[in-house]
Amino acid sequence: MQNILSVQSLTKKFDDFTAVKEISFNVEAGSIFAFLGPNGAGKSTTIKMLTTVLKPTSGEISINGFNALKEQDKARASFGIVFQDSSLDEELTAYENIVYHAVIYKVPKKERDERIRKALEIVGLWNRREDYVKNYSGGMKRRLEIARALVHYPKILFLDEPTVGLDPQTRNSIWDHIKKLNEERNMTIFLTTHYMEEAEAVADQIAIIDHGKIIESGTVEEIKKRTETESLEEAFLKLTGRDIRDDNDSGNKVRTIRGMRRRRTRH
Ligand SMILES: Nc1ncnc2c1ncn2[C@@H]1O[C@H](COP(=O)(O)OP(=O)(O)OP(=O)(O)O)[C@@H](O)[C@H]1O
Ligand SMILES: [Mg+2]
Repeated sequence: MQNILSVQSLTKKFDDFTAVKEISFNVEAGSIFAFLGPNGAGKSTTIKMLTTVLKPTSGEISINGFNALKEQDKARASFGIVFQDSSLDEELTAYENIVYHAVIYKVPKKERDERIRKALEIVGLWNRREDYVKNYSGGMKRRLEIARALVHYPKILFLDEPTVGLDPQTRNSIWDHIKKLNEERNMTIFLTTHYMEEAEAVADQIAIIDHGKIIESGTVEEIKKRTETESLEEAFLKLTGRDIRDDNDSGNKVRTIRGMRRRRTRH
C-alpha cells in the first residue's frame, strides 16, 4: 500500500519547550489513522504542522507526494482540516460559510453549488443551509465543519477531536459519516480523539504520543497484545500512566493557566 502521508523526525519547539520531539510515521492511502495521547501530548501541534498552519522547527512532511514545507499550495489542496477549536463564522449562514471556503480553495464556480449541496447532504444539514451558524447547536456546527472540509475533494481529512462535547447520537452519526467517506471515496482519515472506544472501533492504525514522542504504534490488536490488555483504553492508560496532565506536567505556569481555561471553554 502507498503512503499518502509520510513524516520524518518532525520537531516543534516553543522557545525552550519542545512540544513535538522527532516523531516519524507513515499513513497508508485509504486508511483511518488515529493519533492518540493525553492532554498536552502534542497532537494538535503535530496536526498544525502537517496542515501548514505551524512551521516545524525541523523535520520533513510529505503529503500526497508533495513536500508540505516547499510545495504548500499543492499540499493544501490535498487535505481538508477540522481544527480542535471551531473556526466557523457565526454571523454567516451555513451555506455562506462553505461558499467562502470554496472560493478560497478555488473550486470551479460552475461546480460550487453542486459540491456544497453534496457536502451538506452527507452531514444531514442541507435543509438547514440558510440558518445562521450562531443558531446552530454544537453538534450541527461540528458536522458543518466536516462538510466545509470536504468541498475541495481532499484526499486526506484531518480531524482534531471531531466528536468532543457531543452526545452519543451525534458522535455515532459523525463516525458513520467519516466511515462512509473513507469507504465510498477512499478518503484517508487522520483523527485525534480522547474516546478510546471510538478509536478502537474505526481505526486501522494507531499511534500514541506522549510528552511529544510516539511511544507506541500499530493496529489495535497489536497494541493490546504487546501491552497484554483487553481494550485500547486499558492499553492507553498502561502506556501513558494515570496522572492527570497539564497541571503538574511541566511546571510552566503560563501553560497551566491556558490549559485550564481551554478545558473550561471546551465543555
Ligand atoms: N503556541 C504555543 N506556545 C507555547 N506552547 C504551546 C503552544 N501551542 C501548544 N503549546 C504547548 O505544547 C504542548 C502540546 O500542546 P497540544 O495542543 O499539541 O496538545 P494536544 O495533544 O493537542 O492536547 P489536547 O488533548 O489537550 O488537545 C502543550 O504543553 C501546550 O501547552
Ligand atoms: Mg489538541
